[in-house]
Amino acid sequence: MIDIKRVRADTPACANIIHFNNAGASLVPNPVHSAVVDYLELERSIGGYEAHAATQPEHAALYDNLAKLLGAKPHETAYVENATRAWDMAFYAFPFREGDRILTHGPAEYVSNYLAFLQQAERRGLVIDHAPSDGSGQVDVDALERAIKPRTALIAVTHVPTQTGLINPVADIGAIAKRHGIAFMVDACQSAGQMPLDVAAIGCDVLSGTGRKFLRGPRGTGFLYVSDAIIERLDPPFIDLHSARWVAPDAYEFVPGAKRFENWESFFAGRLGLSAAIDYALGIGIEAIEARVQTLAARLRDELGAVDGVTVADRGARLSAIVTFGKDGEPAPALAARLKRQGINVSVSSLGSARLDFPQRGIESLVRASVHYYNTDAEIDRLVEAVAERPA
Ligand SMILES: Cc1ncc(COP(=O)(O)O)c(C=O)c1O
Repeated sequence: MIDIKRVRADTPACANIIHFNNAGASLVPNPVHSAVVDYLELERSIGGYEAHAATQPEHAALYDNLAKLLGAKPHETAYVENATRAWDMAFYAFPFREGDRILTHGPAEYVSNYLAFLQQAERRGLVIDHAPSDGSGQVDVDALERAIKPRTALIAVTHVPTQTGLINPVADIGAIAKRHGIAFMVDACQSAGQMPLDVAAIGCDVLSGTGRKFLRGPRGTGFLYVSDAIIERLDPPFIDLHSARWVAPDAYEFVPGAKRFENWESFFAGRLGLSAAIDYALGIGIEAIEARVQTLAARLRDELGAVDGVTVADRGARLSAIVTFGKDGEPAPALAARLKRQGINVSVSSLGSARLDFPQRGIESLVRASVHYYNTDAEIDRLVEAVAERPA
């Protein structure tokens, strides 16, 4: 059982606002805030390089924490400034040849990933194949297997999409990828911190995530996992003196492990903040977090569904902490703005992030209310009450 009083006391903003924008950026708990601020203070007092040198063990612990979070080995993990660049560093490293095919689940795929597919399809002659959704809305796993072709070089899916409450069955996809010997990439940006992740159980070669969402880390932090099994097949798109060594006047070699996907310069205070956020989440227990957000999200869906004119839009065999809905006669941006004026933070999912999802469902935009474990039943009741009010 999570000590809700304690975690709310660790989250001072809870006293002032009702925050249901955890899928945007969650509220940072005190230990994360302190890790960042204390490190900035250290940099201010002794110098940036000197602060780093004085805190080597703390910096090294980030990789141990990422490894614990993901069931990986520390050297298979990398710090990258956000989930998009983490994903990009791996995707652009694949040795695609013209005519190679990428297999994905379009309705769930994150917009920036899909833009990269489109760009690389145009530039390198790749083909994008689509696994359809099943009746529940998640990827149709059998159809995905049937969609594999001789030139399928990569299966890339988003675990929990940004714009709707779905959880895709990534472990089932991983088993198929393994059976066919195809590389498998998972965008875990919205799942990290709200449910257990185990790269071995998922069967992925690459997994990316961000700090600021359900992990409750600082903005401008993210991470990448690349398995030992695939790393030598990937050619990092950028290189520097941190990711590689200049071993002779005309020769270089990449450093071992996933560090070859990092930059030399990075947000060192953010690294420690991310590490503290993972520590905090592991301390609470990811299973306990999952149970709590599942309960809160189900309650929110039930209560919203009972409000006249409100439609909950989430589809899927399993649903996440992301709750999306619309209200007759009040467009999502107007409803979100009205809630904001009442001290309730939500966000809006719009067509530009969901071109392979919303048009098929006749949706223009939705309100996205994403719960976290520190939210309470009373906050949910308050949100539902506010949604139900008639706009002035
Ligand atoms: C599913 C998914 N993937 C990737 C991203 C991108 O994360 P970042 O902004 O850290 O690059 C997001 C952000 O909303 C997301 O929801």
